[in-house]
Amino acid sequence: MKTPTTIVYQPRDLADFSAAGIGPLALVNRQHPLQGGFTIPLAPPDEAFPEILMEQQAAKMLAACIRAVGGAGRIVPVSGWRSRREQQAIWDDTLAKQGEAFTRSYVALPGCSEHETGLAIDLAEAADEIDFIRPAFPYDGVCGAFRRAAARYGFVERYRADKTAQTGIAAEPWHFRYVGVPHALLMEQRGLCLEEYLDLLAEQPLTCRLENGRLARVARFAAGQALPPAQGPRQVSADNAGGVIVTDWEAAV
Ligand code: DAL
Ligand code: ZN
Repeated sequence: MKTPTTIVYQPRDLADFSAAGIGPLALVNRQHPLQGGFTIPLAPPDEAFPEILMEQQAAKMLAACIRAVGGAGRIVPVSGWRSRREQQAIWDDTLAKQGEAFTRSYVALPGCSEHETGLAIDLAEAADEIDFIRPAFPYDGVCGAFRRAAARYGFVERYRADKTAQTGIAAEPWHFRYVGVPHALLMEQRGLCLEEYLDLLAEQPLTCRLENGRLARVARFAAGQALPPAQGPRQVSADNAGGVIVTDWEAAV
């Protein structure tokens, strides 16, 4: 595997679309539907697939990660941002063709899909035929290299086989979710899915030493609660579960 060398998480690169009412830590699942009424800046992560869009920071980081592992042209995007209407069409079509158990396992209820935020992407290994609902994205080769590098670029494998009880979705080795750094690193280090990560943050703040030596501190506050003053770069992300996740980076010396 080619080792990524890019410094990928400068504070200036932070996704900040908190004005949209959600942020990169938004939890979207059956228990936490999207409220709607937000707009997200979208961009294509791969110019060869201009119709596949993601939130623009997530798109930039995905492209950087694929480039870093030599995946250009070998790893392809299959499905990124979906409107509510598109999610409904995918749900209806899958239900008609594959039945309810399959559909509930692999398709989120319309309004409860993180694809509707632009923060999720389904990836496939390039092939003549790609399954839209369950694309092949192996654990070895270039896809494995992407998987190992993903957290450094802010992505997590969102629906792991050992987390189906927490997520309510079957194993989806192809579905990656942008949460940003340091969150993806913390989740990977601690083996937590997003549901578990937010539960832990509700109990205690966490810190993460970044590759540039700086410390990032992550804490959860109730929505509307007064925040302590920032000492350096700060990101505030609504979590779509009644809280905000505040990430503070050590100021540069
Ligand atoms: N396949 C994922 C769960 C979705 O439909 O959002
Ligand atoms: Zn997906």
